[in-house]
Amino acid sequence: MEHEILLDVRHLTHIFPLSRKTAVKAVDDVSFQIRRGEIFGLVGESGSGKSTAARCVMNIYQPYAGQIYYKGIDTCDRGQFRKNKKMLQTTRQMIFQDSGSSLNQRMKVRDIIEEPMRVQKIRPLRGSYEEEARFQMKYVGLDPEYLKKYPGELSGGQRQRVAIARALTMEPELLVADEPIASLDASIQAQIVNLFRHLQKEHGFSILFIAHDLDMVEFLCDRVGVMYHGKLVETGPAGAVFQNPLHPYTKALIAAIPIPDPRRERARAVPDFANMEFSRKGTLQEVEKDHFVLMEGGDAT
Ligand SMILES: Nc1ncnc2c1ncn2[C@@H]1O[C@H](COP(=O)(O)OP(=O)(O)OP(=O)(O)O)[C@@H](O)[C@H]1O
Ligand SMILES: [Mg+2]
Repeated sequence: MEHEILLDVRHLTHIFPLSRKTAVKAVDDVSFQIRRGEIFGLVGESGSGKSTAARCVMNIYQPYAGQIYYKGIDTCDRGQFRKNKKMLQTTRQMIFQDSGSSLNQRMKVRDIIEEPMRVQKIRPLRGSYEEEARFQMKYVGLDPEYLKKYPGELSGGQRQRVAIARALTMEPELLVADEPIASLDASIQAQIVNLFRHLQKEHGFSILFIAHDLDMVEFLCDRVGVMYHGKLVETGPAGAVFQNPLHPYTKALIAAIPIPDPRRERARAVPDFANMEFSRKGTLQEVEKDHFVLMEGGDAT
């Protein structure tokens, strides 16, 4: 069971039409798998297609081409989606950068957390809706007294944790987290990342984790994928990709991570890779075990 594939994204392509004649290919023939209990990080510069890919995975966008299998179900097939709707809407949950700030301001925290259970007619694991809400509040490190408050009375980090608590009531198996910590300060970021770690270890969650902070991704993720202009240019175990990056774009991205020591950081020549162009040609090829890089030549997969 350990290596069971939970999410299998195959040749995912998504295009946004801009006008009658022009379109942007936000995601271009991307394939990756997430195993059960694994944290998969998606990194790459702004506009590289990470959020679009995540939204396709959650069926927010209907992909232009490709397949997305979740627990073996082709979620982009309308018939299969309809047949498995409740399972798909409960066991997959998404957290956005601004999940906390988009909570309904007119509802008390308690009602916000209980709402999905009521809508999905989920029997709470801890007896009552309120017990479940209290449990999840404590779990994400919030005083259950806050259940009586409105989102406007909480800080940004507290609201984001309410959004996570709400998602956890659905007992998800896949959490798609699109920059869930970007708007929080460093100490709260660390708390939330530790919470994700705990969820993975104790509950066997799988997480698709999108972040700009590469140190955080290296710390948290088992495997990573690197996106560049809609293409997945490299994927592999986090250690292999960070210690031995193979694609020129990944090399530049990792070379640009600031060194924590300010003296060494000032002395360092950072490549100006915003103005560099990298190849997006070829196919993903396995260079070392489980470590794939986009390159030309060799066997097409
Ligand atoms: N709703 C949309 N309509 C048109 N184009 C879009 C839309 N959403 C995204 N795009 C375009 O698709 C490309 C990928 O965007 P996406 O939001 O997936 O990138 P991202 O990797 O998540 O970036 P960031 O790190 O800034 O969040 C970009 O060129 C973007 O301009
Ligand atoms: Mg994004």
